[in-house]
Parts: sequence; structure tokens; C-alpha cells
Amino acid sequence: MTVTIVGAQLGDEGKGGVVDLYGDTADVVARYQGGDNAGHTVVHDGEKYKLSLVPSGAVRGKVGVLGNGCVVNPRTLFDEIETLQEKGLDPDVRVAERAHVILPFHRVLDGIEEDVKSEDDQEVGTTGRGIGPTYEDKAGRRGVRIGDLLDPDVLRDRLEYVVPQKRALIEDVYGTDVSDLDNPDAFDVDALFEEYREIGERLAEQNMTVNASAFLTDAMADGETVMFEGAQGTIIDIDHGNYPYVTSSNPTAGGAAVGTGLSPNVIAEGEIIGIVKGYLTRVGSGPLPTELGGVEGDTPGYDEQGDGENEELATYIREEGGEYGTVTGRPRRVGWLDMPMLRHSARVNGFTGLAINHIDVLAGLDEVKIGHSYELDGEELLAMPPTTEEWGRCEATFKTFEGWDNVDWAAVAEEGYDAIPENARTYLEYISDELDAPIYAVGVGPGREETVVVETPTGAE
Ligand code: GDP
Ligand code: IMO
Ligand code: MG
Repeated sequence: MTVTIVGAQLGDEGKGGVVDLYGDTADVVARYQGGDNAGHTVVHDGEKYKLSLVPSGAVRGKVGVLGNGCVVNPRTLFDEIETLQEKGLDPDVRVAERAHVILPFHRVLDGIEEDVKSEDDQEVGTTGRGIGPTYEDKAGRRGVRIGDLLDPDVLRDRLEYVVPQKRALIEDVYGTDVSDLDNPDAFDVDALFEEYREIGERLAEQNMTVNASAFLTDAMADGETVMFEGAQGTIIDIDHGNYPYVTSSNPTAGGAAVGTGLSPNVIAEGEIIGIVKGYLTRVGSGPLPTELGGVEGDTPGYDEQGDGENEELATYIREEGGEYGTVTGRPRRVGWLDMPMLRHSARVNGFTGLAINHIDVLAGLDEVKIGHSYELDGEELLAMPPTTEEWGRCEATFKTFEGWDNVDWAAVAEEGYDAIPENARTYLEYISDELDAPIYAVGVGPGREETVVVETPTGAE
């Protein structure tokens, strides 16, 4: 049995915490997409762990796998493993030989493309980690894979093909002289070859590379439990999100099969848990029909409309929830929960259960709202439309809920679901009913113990 953890919204829903919560009985925790654009937080025993590439199961000592669907920056992977070792953990991470490598020029290109787009206010607001350019090269069949680092001849051939193309792109298309860059070695075949050949040796010495499909299949055949840790979220999925304000991979449940080499049957036999933040946050650009206030540089039209009338409320939620990017430290845009977004997400992923987080952050407000539907061109929509242009024109119709007080959340977590304030339960049950998926867990604080566990997914008991 497998358990797949998927972000139901725009990322940062608290996926890391849920992986940690249910990870006790897992033997292996595998990421199936994304790279070090992810920032997953696990809080346990007063210690805060920030994980970008190492699967969150590392906090419980579980084997981590980065599947073929991931893009891996080996520099940040080794740095992160060292940081976690300094905190007393001993991460055991295996990387798929089919996973693609983020090379230094991918980061440079990510930055330049965002700069160029920003001249026309079209930037995505990426994390700058080189994610998009690496997936571009994967789809363009000119990428370098982890397995290529293990064979110097293959590595050199791949670099000799791709690097001159990137150099031409940067010089002839973007008009930037490589020698003017902070790191001209990012476009130098010899320098790249030396560094990445050594990285390949290090990966091999530490026995870190695997055929993920075979590794995970064998683990399951031995009776081990595999958990899949989605990164990002459904609305920034390259296919099902609000293109082009998306990441370049498939965080949705289908990605778990493609990104690891296990059959869709295996994923479907298991549980698919949708992680929902009790309100909404967004890092980066793109529409957000239930947005409260705005963030300069990210909220479309910010310059004309300014902070918006609900800025005070947005600031309150941002501060209470600590809504600043784990990776970039940027203030997150804040909005009310958006049901048309979540109905779309539930359809795409087929959630068998929900974990709804951050209920504590909303406590103390007189009333709490949820965007129940949208109005677009005089029609009511219950699910978000497929084009971002239409989504940007949707006006949310809100449903208002009575607020709930701040209580001793740790005690609530101990006592169980019925101890949650009644108004908060009304809020939670509305979400569950609308999505036709049962509530498995309710987050009432960042720590492992600050979670009300209603159900444990089959396979994680
Ligand atoms: P992820 O990317 O989905 O793993 O989420 P992040 O780690 O980027 O952001 C979630 C943030 O909220 C982290 O700081 C978590 O520690 C914190 N968090 C998770 N669940 C809860 C919750 O129920 N209540 C509160 N107050 N914080 C939470
Ligand atoms: P976790 O796993 C929130 C956003 C970026 C940007 C867009 C594209 O922590 O939930 P990219 O660097 O991927 O090309 O950026 O996607 N983004 C995230 N937002 N949480 C994340 O990850 C994100 N990873 C990428 O802000 O808008
Ligand atoms: Mg995050």
C-alpha cells in the first residue's frame, strides 16, 4: 500500500508536516517531481527542519528517494544533507539515475528569463532555482541525467552538445556576455565536466543512485510501505494549474506514477491525501480571486489598486501564520479559501482523505469567509475555468462562517476532533462535504503533536 501526499492549492499547504505525521509506519518516502524549489517544514521536539530536496521522512530516519520525475541540484542536495547531519539526523537519500540534473547555467537562465519577462509584467515569480530551464532541457532531449554523471564519456558528450547552445542563447538572444556574469564557469564545458564528474564519483561512492522504479517495486515486494511526498501544489501543476504561472512539473497524483516508475494501479490502490491550508497563500504572480490585500511585485494590478481594502486582515493572517516563503523568504499573498479551486483539485487528484491545516491561524477572527463559487460573465461557476485569462476575471461569491476563539490547541489535539471549537468544525465539514472526501487530519499548529488525527490512511496504520 502507498500513501500519496498532494498539495491541493498553490504549495505550502503543510505537506512536510503531514508526511512527518503519517510517516512513522512508512519505510521509504519518495519525491516524484520538483526539486529544490520546494520548502517543506517539519517541526518536532522544538526543532524546525527545513527540507528542500531531502524527503521529509528523513526526520524520522526513513529512506528517501528522489524519483525520475525530480530535477536534482547535487550541490544543494549535498549541502542539505550536511545541514541535517549537523542537526543530528542521518539522511539516507537515493537518487534516480533517470532524474535530471540542474546545472549552474539553468539557474542563470531562470534569472535572465524572469528579468526579461518582468519588463512586460509577465514574470512568474519563480524560486530562481533553475527548475523551468531544466525541465525544458528534459523535454527537449538535451538534458543531463544523474546516470550520465556516472560515466565521464557520456557526461562530456552531453555537455559538449548542450553548453554551446546555452552560451549562444545567452549571448545571441539575451545579449549578455558570458564573461560579464558572476559565474562564467556556468557556461564552460571543462569546468562543468570537472565538477560534475566528481559529483558523479561522490554519488557512486556513497551508493546513492538507484533505478527508482526497481528500487521501489522491490521495497514493496518485501512488504515495505512507500509514501509519496508531492511538492508544490495542484494549481501550480504545469498541466492542471494556472498556466503560465506554474511550476514545470506535475505535483498532482498522476505524477506519482510517472515520476517514480510505479504503475498507476499501485498509486490508486493506496490512499491519496489532499493537503489543504485553511485559507490561501500564493508566492509569485498570477490571479487569485479570493485574495485579501496584495503583495507588491506579485499581485497583478497592485500598482493601480494598491493594498486593497482587506490589507489589514491579510497582514494579520500573514503574521499569525508566518506566511513568508521557506525557500525565498518572500511575503506570501493571502486570501480566503477558494472552493472552485479545491473542487478542481479534488477532481484532478481523487482525494481519499483530506488534511486541513492552519485552523489555529484563523482563530480569533469574528468571521471567516470561503469563496463558494465564482461569477464569470453573468454565470455561476463551481470549479475554476481552464484558462488563466478567464480565471483572472472570476469574481468570488463568498459564504460567511462565524469565527472561533483561540483555545489550547495542544489540548485539542490530544482530546480529538470533538474538542475542536464547534464553529471551526462547521467550517471543516463544509469543506469535506463540498469535496466529498473525509477529513483525516486537522492541523492546529506547526508541531507533530499539534495535529488532530481523525483517520490514519490505510497503509500507514
Ligand atoms: P509545505 O511546503 O506544504 O510542506 O509547507 P511549508 O512548510 O512551506 O509551509 C507550511 C508552514 O506552516 C510551515 O511553517 C509549517 O510548520 C506550518 N504549519 C503546518 N501546519 C500548520 C498548522 O496547522 N498550523 C500552523 N500554525 N502552522 C502550520
Ligand atoms: P512547496 O513544495 C509555493 C511557485 C513559485 C512560482 C512558480 C514557479 O514548498 O509547496 P519554479 O521555481 O518552480 O519555477 O516557480 O511556482 N512555487 C512554489 N510556491 N510552494 C512551493 O513549493 C513552490 N515551488 C514553486 O513561487 O510562482
Ligand atoms: Mg513550502
